[in-house]
Amino acid sequence: MQSTSLTVNGNAVSVTAHGDTPLLDVLRNHLGLVGTKFGCGQEQCGCCMVLVDGRPEKSCGKPLSTMAGKAIVTIEGLGTPDRPHALQQAFLDEQAGQCGYCLAGILISAKALLDRNPSPSRAEIAAALDDNICRCGSHVRILRAVERAARLMRKGAAQ
Ligand code: FES
Ligand code: FES
Repeated sequence: MQSTSLTVNGNAVSVTAHGDTPLLDVLRNHLGLVGTKFGCGQEQCGCCMVLVDGRPEKSCGKPLSTMAGKAIVTIEGLGTPDRPHALQQAFLDEQAGQCGYCLAGILISAKALLDRNPSPSRAEIAAALDDNICRCGSHVRILRAVERAARLMRKGAAQ
């Protein structure tokens, strides 16, 4: 067991756990942030995606021992029901998703894209989401939602 200090959604936290504990387990089981989902556990599906120092990473494959001093953003860090992030609003507006299980990871990958490229083409959006699997087949609506969010953010509607 070891104590590891990191920042999660802007809050400094210290977690005591084995160093090989996956970040996903730390988020869900130690910190109660259950918006990030467990899918395959093998870095194949993308539903556990979080931002690590601004980059999208699959948290099921990131041991706690590598997270010291890192800044993590989870889906809970994007917005609130009262003040949704432009991506969350756009996904609602487009009704992008069915079961919703993949969406936390997809929103995180999309945020990383829009933070570095405010005007992505549809091909660039598809490439950025290539590591995220949606088993419900909501891809077309998801692409539309990311395009809508980009427009909202360019208009300054983002938080
Ligand atoms: S649960 Fe991490 S990639 Fe599938
Ligand atoms: S909406 Fe069900 S897996 Fe994507």
